[in-house]
Amino acid sequence: MHFSRTILAVPVLGLLSLTVLAVPNRVKLPRGRPDNHTLNRERADAVKEAFTFSWDGYQKYAMGHDELHPISNSYSDSRNSWGASAVDAFSTAIVMQIPEIVDTILNYIPTIDFDVTTDQVSLFETTIRYLGGMLSGYDLLKGPLPTLASNATAVDVVLAQAIRLADNLAFAFDTPTGIPSNGLYFNPPGTDNSTTNGIATIGTLVLEWTRLSDITGNKTYAELSQKGESYLLAPKPASSEPWPGLVGTNVDINTGLFQDAFGGWVGGDDSFYEYLIKMYVYDTTRFSEYRDRWILAADSSIAHIATHPSTRPDLTFLSIFDGQELIHESEHLACFDGGSFILGGLTLKEQKYIDFGLELVNGCHDTYISTLTGIGPEIFRWVTNSTAANDTNNPQPPADQQAFYEKAGFFITNGQYVLRPEVMESFYYAYRATGDQQYRDWAWNAFVAINSTARVGSGFAELQDVNAADGGGFNDFQDSFWFAEVLKYSYLIHAPDSVFQVENQGVNQFVFNTEAHPFKVVGPPI
Ligand SMILES: *[C@@H]1O[C@H](CO)[C@@H](O)[C@H](O)[C@H]1NC(C)=O
Ligand SMILES: *[C@@H]1O[C@H](CO)[C@@H](O)[C@H](O)[C@H]1NC(C)=O
Ligand SMILES: *[C@@H]1O[C@H](CO)[C@@H](O)[C@H](O)[C@H]1NC(C)=O
Ligand SMILES: *[C@@H]1O[C@H](CO)[C@@H](O)[C@H](O)[C@H]1NC(C)=O
Ligand SMILES: *[C@@H]1O[C@H](CO)[C@@H](O)[C@H](O)[C@H]1NC(C)=O
Ligand SMILES: *[C@@H]1O[C@H](CO)[C@@H](O)[C@H](O)[C@H]1NC(C)=O
Ligand SMILES: *[C@@H]1O[C@H](CO)[C@@H](O)[C@H](O)[C@H]1NC(C)=O
Repeated sequence: MHFSRTILAVPVLGLLSLTVLAVPNRVKLPRGRPDNHTLNRERADAVKEAFTFSWDGYQKYAMGHDELHPISNSYSDSRNSWGASAVDAFSTAIVMQIPEIVDTILNYIPTIDFDVTTDQVSLFETTIRYLGGMLSGYDLLKGPLPTLASNATAVDVVLAQAIRLADNLAFAFDTPTGIPSNGLYFNPPGTDNSTTNGIATIGTLVLEWTRLSDITGNKTYAELSQKGESYLLAPKPASSEPWPGLVGTNVDINTGLFQDAFGGWVGGDDSFYEYLIKMYVYDTTRFSEYRDRWILAADSSIAHIATHPSTRPDLTFLSIFDGQELIHESEHLACFDGGSFILGGLTLKEQKYIDFGLELVNGCHDTYISTLTGIGPEIFRWVTNSTAANDTNNPQPPADQQAFYEKAGFFITNGQYVLRPEVMESFYYAYRATGDQQYRDWAWNAFVAINSTARVGSGFAELQDVNAADGGGFNDFQDSFWFAEVLKYSYLIHAPDSVFQVENQGVNQFVFNTEAHPFKVVGPPI
């Protein structure tokens, strides 16, 4: 994930994504599940082909810039011009084991000047993409895949670059509460003067900054991020927590008080919930409080915000809430939720979370298979049988989507596909947990649909309308998370077991950050 600014009913940024790993010696599988994680070479190779194709386009037309524009063969720099696509592609090239691309990126990263930028720096985006990409590459090359790095010195410089970047960002936490500012300037250091920050942007730093402390021995990074997070774990005032564990979105940087009770598993909130369980996967000793907050949020979500479309009682989506009022709207970004429940269920050995997660995965799968392209929309809505006809928060489907809604159980309010990963990510967790080939087939079908609709020019471009046969036209932009997330999850679901894959017995050696960069975990005590 990513925090993307989506156009939801309310405030917000967006985000998301998930986790991982594997135990070398499998003992027994839960509930008699088959160990079916064998290589599907044909599919894995097809995904690698798509990765190599997009990488070649990026390298030729945009190397060192943040994004490729695949149609015009040009580029843009929305992430401070530090080469976001290269850094985001790093851990994917490593897990796909493509030595030439690993080498190219490994030799590129030491050349980035993280001291200089004229644009605003997002603490959140910079953390999940750049810091995450570098720490993951470091963990993988120092850990399970050392022979992929032809230049050992450069691997150490990657860590030095991560430290330099974090040191440049650290002033963000210098606020009256320790809750960071998200909008930063570097030369000279300053902020956008915003008095609030959101729970996704505050709460999706702790994995990366804690990992950096654990690798370097400098405890400051972990302390800064955990102090900011502490206000989210003990939300005040009480009215900002409409149900236990489910909280509002915006927090005052000067007082630590929540400003609203509007939230959900959607952009702006999403990866705050994602990281609660992932911190426990990362270190079961230090992060049991995070686990407990995830359990509260998960139980409240099942009890209070899970709803079924009036025309499709078999589908389950999570609604947004404003206090205890529900808004039946969700989005592609929120589709990481199934994967989060599955990871929680595997980790806590609670079948109810796995079962509920699989229900959510099924709903998000339907958002794909119901459209003309076979790809799901950016934002969608539904109504329930208890929705009043005059409920302004929950409008009925428009006339031109009535028939679509009857059949699909949702209607589309933003039909774009911007190369997001969350549905693929949740297919990945569903497959890793169950070994059921169905989820591999779902991921493959989604990949084939994306490859046949969004592939254009020298890469892949955003689509305007997933419910038009040809995708409704392109937006000439390939975001860096295409490399980090979509291609990684599309590949790993068909790849053989390895230490960085999600383990179905809940004892993982790696955990994916929200941008799908795998980090080595501390894990449970030996
Ligand atoms: C290895 O990486 C270091 C650090 O980036 C660099 O100075 C050196 O030139 C590289 N060596 C080779 C042989 O590319
Ligand atoms: C630890 O990190 C902090 C935060 O960037 C930095 O100010 C401090 O100098 C570092 N300490 C050491 C010993 O490097
Ligand atoms: C933030 O406030 C300071 C002090 O008033 C001001 O100098 C600076 O220009 C402001 N920054 C922005 C981005 O508005
Ligand atoms: C809503 O009502 C219709 C008509 O009674 C029924 O067929 C459908 O199953 C109901 N939907 C849900 C989610 O209960
Ligand atoms: C919606 O309709 C109900 C009864 O049909 C009525 O009591 C309520 O006032 C209406 N609400 C609005 C916002 O019009
Ligand atoms: C396991 O994989 C094999 C080969 O792809 C497939 O035939 C079999 O149905 C799978 N088993 C399950 C339980 O999905
Ligand atoms: C992806 O698209 C390319 C270009 O059209 C094609 O050659 C390749 O076979 C496609 N891959 C799959 C799996 O459909």
